[in-house]
Amino acid sequence: MKRLFGVIGDPISHSMSPMMHNDAFKNLKIDGYYQPFRITPEDLATAIKGMKVIGIEGFNVTIPHKTSILPLVDRLDPLAKAIGAVNTVVRDGNDYVGYNSDGLGFICSLQERWKKDFKNEKTLIIGAGGAAKAIYYSLASVGVKKIDISNRTTARAQGLVDHCPFKCETNILDFPQARQNLGAYTLVIQTTSIGMSPNINEIPFSLENMLPNTHAVDIIYNPLETKFLTEARQKGATTQNGIGMFVHQGAIAFEKWTGIKPDIIRMENIVMQHLGG
Ligand code: ATR
Repeated sequence: MKRLFGVIGDPISHSMSPMMHNDAFKNLKIDGYYQPFRITPEDLATAIKGMKVIGIEGFNVTIPHKTSILPLVDRLDPLAKAIGAVNTVVRDGNDYVGYNSDGLGFICSLQERWKKDFKNEKTLIIGAGGAAKAIYYSLASVGVKKIDISNRTTARAQGLVDHCPFKCETNILDFPQARQNLGAYTLVIQTTSIGMSPNINEIPFSLENMLPNTHAVDIIYNPLETKFLTEARQKGATTQNGIGMFVHQGAIAFEKWTGIKPDIIRMENIVMQHLGG
């Protein structure tokens, strides 16, 4: 019998995870199958019970279930608990254990593309939503001591910082302040939905003060180059889009389920082909 895996979300038809994981199973000669399941919020609890009954070995969790699944798993990894969101569930005996591989996926993709010791860089995160929280908490959990945050709603950024269980020194800036002080940062991470297709001409704020020694990351991958990345590139910064984070969060999940590291380049090529890059 095939080993069964999947992803739950609503909507789910656009998900690139099935093609990425199913190719990895084939490539590694693992008799597994990864199925997308559209699950509405009302059906989430029933769906998780169903997963157990069917014996799914693991699954990913995406919008809108990343937070509401917390009380439905049997155990929570400490980082997922701190972030308050689960994107990967792993069967361990009779238990389902919730993990969050988004932030660690971000860190892996950063290390792959930017060869610097990111722990000692001056870092700014733009945004304070779920993705920003996963990245900030994960960076803080691996020992980054100082990360500033800029968000439209500064109170939300303050809440994010206040709830972080890992020690990290942070200044909170509004967008005009971040724009003004941008030259102080060598790593700038854009986590908001600003600039995502179809709003491709939008940017959180002008990057006129960005210096050429900066590494700019946008976690968006549609479009492959957001206006934020175009402006950063024009300022001489090195840039990276969100494909690496997406691929690495998937690879971390795959390894948790199977014990085998998948071929990252192959996963990335599949995603790129799908996005027409
Ligand atoms: P995600 O889980 O993808 O991070 P989210 O939790 O809804 O999504 O967070 C969205 C982020 O994008 C927030 O930082 C949000 O800013 P606010 O906290 O001020 O709402 C930011 N964002 C989205 N649209 C925005 C816009 N038009 N202008 C400024 N910020 C925006």
